[in-house]
Amino acid sequence: MARISASVFTSHVPAIGAAVDLGKTQEPYWQKMFDGYVKSKEWMAEHTPDVIILVFNDHATAFSLEMIPTFALGTAAEFEIADEGWGPRPVPKVIGHPAFASHIAQSVIQDDFDLTIVNRMAVDHGLTVPLTLMFGQPEAWPCRIIPFAVNVVQYPVPSGRRCFALGQAIRKAVAAYDEPLDVQIWGTGGMSHQLQGPRAGLINAEWDNRFLDRLIAEPAELAQLPHIEYVREAGSEGIELVMWLIARGAMADVDGGAPPTVAHRFYHVPASNTAVGHLILENHPAA
Ligand code: DHB
Ligand code: FE
Repeated sequence: MARISASVFTSHVPAIGAAVDLGKTQEPYWQKMFDGYVKSKEWMAEHTPDVIILVFNDHATAFSLEMIPTFALGTAAEFEIADEGWGPRPVPKVIGHPAFASHIAQSVIQDDFDLTIVNRMAVDHGLTVPLTLMFGQPEAWPCRIIPFAVNVVQYPVPSGRRCFALGQAIRKAVAAYDEPLDVQIWGTGGMSHQLQGPRAGLINAEWDNRFLDRLIAEPAELAQLPHIEYVREAGSEGIELVMWLIARGAMADVDGGAPPTVAHRFYHVPASNTAVGHLILENHPAA
């Protein structure tokens, strides 16, 4: 059977992708931030999964106001890299896993989550920057990737509670797949940031670190947080953090297993307008 071995959480600022692509990671502005991901790449080299279910948000790139799916599962064989205005990033294409993704769709939809099925989607910095942070610049990504897009850009956005429950449904779907796949689930976006209006530039390090503490230790309680609190405390784009609850909800301790092990934790301000948060949690399924 397939099993979830770990969850990975990371921010996704586009300027991080540009810093890597343009060879600027050792410049004074960036060095400390990239230092925080050295251990992540080492850990990843030892724990490369077969498949990543990569929960991310599209930034009006593949979707627009014409169509706004709340939860969209990528079932295609491959996904092109989006052109966000400067040409597509020079990163490998994303190879999906149609059979496994279709199984997840079947299981999760029958578990009462109304997913949108996406057979063609260009993936933007929301997906490519986390891959770059965790894998660096390989010729090809070392595993299959199932993109799972969440609407956190256009209101109304899903609640943390709904995201957490969805993670639990994904965990059940993975556990029911009849192939011995090593699966990671990633939650991306955040942490505190606001890109617009009078509060543009907002960062709330204290709130972010409390969010990380609670994500590790009391995710079910954290999932009850109303969306207005994300916006008030972590800024309008801080709402991206609800996606982290999908990955956290897929960990075994939520359903009777042992608590995950924190393999790595990192926090850094600033990266562009955003506070960068990062966690790696190793999963411990019930015996
Ligand atoms: C920035 C952060 C984001 O999450 C995003 O989608 C775009 C830009 C920033 O900090 O510049
Ligand atoms: Fe974003």
